[in-house]
Amino acid sequence: MKIEDKIKAYGEKIDTLLRETIPSNKDDYLSEPIWHHLSTGGKRIRPAICLLTCEALGGNTENAIPFALAVEILHNMLLMHDDIEDGDTVRRDKPTVWVKYGLANAVNAGDYMLAIAYRSIISSVMDIERKMKLLDIFTLTYTKTVEGQALDINARAAKDFNVEKYMKIVELKTGYYLAFGLVGGVVLSINDDRCLETIWKLGKNMGPAFQIKDDLIDLTAGKGRGGVIGSDICEGKASFPYAYTLEVASEKEKGDLREIMLKERRVTTDSDIKWVLDLYKKYESLTYSQNYAEKLIEDAYKTIDSLNINDNAVFKEIADFMVQRST
Ligand code: IPE
Ligand code: IPE
Ligand code: MG
Ligand code: MG
Ligand code: MG
Repeated sequence: MKIEDKIKAYGEKIDTLLRETIPSNKDDYLSEPIWHHLSTGGKRIRPAICLLTCEALGGNTENAIPFALAVEILHNMLLMHDDIEDGDTVRRDKPTVWVKYGLANAVNAGDYMLAIAYRSIISSVMDIERKMKLLDIFTLTYTKTVEGQALDINARAAKDFNVEKYMKIVELKTGYYLAFGLVGGVVLSINDDRCLETIWKLGKNMGPAFQIKDDLIDLTAGKGRGGVIGSDICEGKASFPYAYTLEVASEKEKGDLREIMLKERRVTTDSDIKWVLDLYKKYESLTYSQNYAEKLIEDAYKTIDSLNINDNAVFKEIADFMVQRST
């Protein structure tokens, strides 16, 4: 089975279980916004790779379900808050929660999801030591992701933004929460500390690779923002192509680029977006970005090869998926 199909199969299972975990028919101002968001889909990649890890290492995937659910719920609450922070009005081609239900309800719905994610782990049946380990992993991930989000939203105005700074941000904002499903999958199977450490390292190469691809999708196919290409330019997002172009463009171009990125979203024009895309074309920034992401996946391969396990093929397939995907 291809990795896309494996992810899809586990994703469908997670969808069914999400419906059982979070009621969709309560008149509480929470379940409606939460299900407005969850019904828009998403790849469900993080819980799927958690279950695939557990399976590959000989664990019982049924035992990993509560953690896998927590992983996906955390991801979606982060997205709900991320859309507020980024000022995005559309996600997965539907209005974002803060647009449809108001800021206060979106903050509240996200907070509630965080609590449900914790509850999913706490109420799962397993030995207390393993449960504490999972809670620790979850809390570390949440902390690091928010640290990354804080750096991300404040990088927009930074004069000296570059690839090194980008990497620091995305290791935090994307790396931890892309890897922690895999880490949980290890705890729920072989529970080997050396393997755990190696799998965490994957977050440092697979995470940035995933985020670079996310940045590229926004500038090429569009990221489920109602057909808009370059929504990140309007947002002023400190993306990889932006970081790289700042390193190679002329002083005048850098100044003009920064000026566009600092504009309020509503005043950024189509010709601003075109100007930025043309500049990225001039410096082949998108090709450079894809190559950089692929190089990170080569590093991930090395990390995977250092795992002391019989069959590491699925981890390489997961790593490839991070940069070969189209959505
Ligand atoms: C988007 O993640 C947020 C990032 C970390 C870049 P995904 O691309 O996994 O989002 P969905 O859940 O599939 O929509
Ligand atoms: C968000 O990165 C990563 C999170 C921690 C949620 P982005 O801001 O690029 O994600 P999208 O493009 O809105 O999904
Ligand atoms: Mg965003
Ligand atoms: Mg963001
Ligand atoms: Mg993005």
